[in-house]
Amino acid sequence: MDIKSVGIVGAGQMGNGIAHVMALAGYKVMLNDISDDALTKGLSTVDRNLERQVSRGKIGADEKAEALGRISTTLALTELGQTDLIIEAATERETVKQAIFEDLLPHLQPHTILTSNTSSISITRLASRTDRPEKFMGFHFMNPVPVMQLVELIRGIATDAETFEACKAVVDKLGKTAATAEDFPAFIVNRILMPMINEAVYTLYEGVGSVQSIDSSMKLGANHPMGPLELADFIGLDTCLAIMNVLHDGLADTKYRPCPLLTKYVEAGWLGRKSQRGFYDYRGEVPVPTR
Ligand code: CAA
Repeated sequence: MDIKSVGIVGAGQMGNGIAHVMALAGYKVMLNDISDDALTKGLSTVDRNLERQVSRGKIGADEKAEALGRISTTLALTELGQTDLIIEAATERETVKQAIFEDLLPHLQPHTILTSNTSSISITRLASRTDRPEKFMGFHFMNPVPVMQLVELIRGIATDAETFEACKAVVDKLGKTAATAEDFPAFIVNRILMPMINEAVYTLYEGVGSVQSIDSSMKLGANHPMGPLELADFIGLDTCLAIMNVLHDGLADTKYRPCPLLTKYVEAGWLGRKSQRGFYDYRGEVPVPTR
């Protein structure tokens, strides 16, 4: 199956990044969100990040203009039904995702492939609530989408080979690399990454090190591009907590117990960069550790 158009649900951090790379690769993109404000913010982020690539000589100004020209926006979720491939990149809550698929179903073309950019929720369970579990799979990008090379492709129990191959061909066309993961809690990247981040929060909670010393240790001692607490702020502490809960519930092993300090930050609304405060305070000129 040849995919030409892509519908993206959610214009946030992940959704606008996906729109960016899809449009740059030549796909017609329809971007949906629930408010004009979210769509405007999403599009201006795409514009800014494309401009960053122009200024670094990665793409030409004409490529940027063409990519932007391929993106249309809509507040009507149902309009996405006209596209060949839909990638849901809404909030990481199962009820939200289910409601989106429910609304979309009556408007889909028979051949439309449905996917979710979920970082941890069961693909098989999401698929089972749709009319096309064989045409449903996980399409998981990493943040920042324009920079990160990997896409995890997750087959649900019913996903057919044609759907997988069509999605794999899209990843190839994006110039990214696909890793195939089986449908178990948090798949591959987050199964490994999140317990590390959670352990970093325990290290802070138990007073083994400060925010600064924990991040420096992993940057300078393990060559990670960002320290684990800086990375947690970048991903969003609510997302980190949601993924730890999926691991804890889905695998029923206490080694995945979310650190109480992570829970406390989320309860405070200190969600990381997006709320300007997390393990660092981003409201000033430079980020300042909050512990
Ligand atoms: N759009 C386009 N380009 C971007 C960008 C964006 N949003 N963000 C950064 N870039 C580009 C920069 O322009 C720069 O390009 P050049 O190499 O051409 O100069 C390059 O990326 C590096 O950026 P910077 O020099 O500004 O900053 P940096 O060297 O500190 O790198 C980073 C920034 C790429 C984010 C790096 O810190 C990094 O790799 N961090 C770790 C990110 C990570 O682990 N992501 C995965 C999170 S887990 C996940 O996403 C899964 C999940 O489900 C939670």
